[in-house]
Amino acid sequence: MKIEGMAAVVTGAGSGLGAATAGALARAGARVALFDLDDAAAVGVAERTGGFAVRCDVADAASVADALAAAAVRHGPARIVVHCAAISIGRVPLVGGDPAERLTKFARQLRINLDGALNVLSLAADAMRALAPLDDGERGVVVNTASVAAFEGQAGSAAYSASKGGIAALTLPAARELAPLGIRVNAIAPGIFDTAMIAGLPDYVRDLYLADCVFPKRFGAPDEFAELALAIVANRMLNGEVIRLDGAMRLPAAADFLHRAGVVAAPDAN
Ligand SMILES: NC(=O)c1ccc[n+]([C@@H]2O[C@H](COP(=O)([O-])OP(=O)(O)OC[C@H]3O[C@@H](n4cnc5c(N)ncnc54)[C@H](O)[C@@H]3O)[C@@H](O)[C@H]2O)c1
Repeated sequence: MKIEGMAAVVTGAGSGLGAATAGALARAGARVALFDLDDAAAVGVAERTGGFAVRCDVADAASVADALAAAAVRHGPARIVVHCAAISIGRVPLVGGDPAERLTKFARQLRINLDGALNVLSLAADAMRALAPLDDGERGVVVNTASVAAFEGQAGSAAYSASKGGIAALTLPAARELAPLGIRVNAIAPGIFDTAMIAGLPDYVRDLYLADCVFPKRFGAPDEFAELALAIVANRMLNGEVIRLDGAMRLPAAADFLHRAGVVAAPDAN
């Protein structure tokens, strides 16, 4: 899809990968609505990049519907949706502790990351139905954000991995289901990118991740994510695909990484 002049929505646009994508879309001539739960952050990004900010909790279907409606009043229904909003709640151990608390944490992680993706995808696609088809009958394109943790999640992060695995798994069926409407669905599975999400990691944990970066030997830059998101939007043949963007890195093996990081006891301590 040609980007110039199109209405676009970016979720999680107040920070990191979403902020970079909102900026890249605006520079490419899209009319961008920046959705984020942190509306002050989204306003700040919008002031720098162009577009306008809308407060939105992606985990709440009514909030997503309201935000999409507000964006549509300004720009018309979005043909381009890049969904980046998510959280990582950290370690949720599978054994020990309070089972009810474990389930609460698990449900929160899935609600924000997976229900959030479904809310944005389904409500945005529903609004796209009203749009006239473009070349090849295309009405819109949705780019979700999974993670390499969908494929090689680490010990302690079953909840986050499950949420991202869900996003990866729904990509093909969603693309198949929305094909008659001319809506493409893809996902990017980033490796480690330098954003607020990893800013809190201690240096030695960052070093462990860096050791597993293959080439280039560094974390990804948000602009590199944005570049791929725009390429997916532009290329009509890309559909139903989850694309790793990771410089060939694989997340470190769980026990070694986690016990060195002091997150779990070394295996022989049990
Ligand atoms: N940074 C990485 O290394 C990395 C790796 C793999 C996948 N990802 C994924 O990339 C995406 C972007 O992550 P990031 O690194 O830019 O994170 P980030 O923390 O910098 O930005 C996430 C944004 O989402 C917003 N957000 C959180 N919950 C929300 C909600 N319920 N509704 C609306 N907005 C909400 C936050 O306010 C924040 O502005 C996420 O889906 C994340 O899981 C990141």
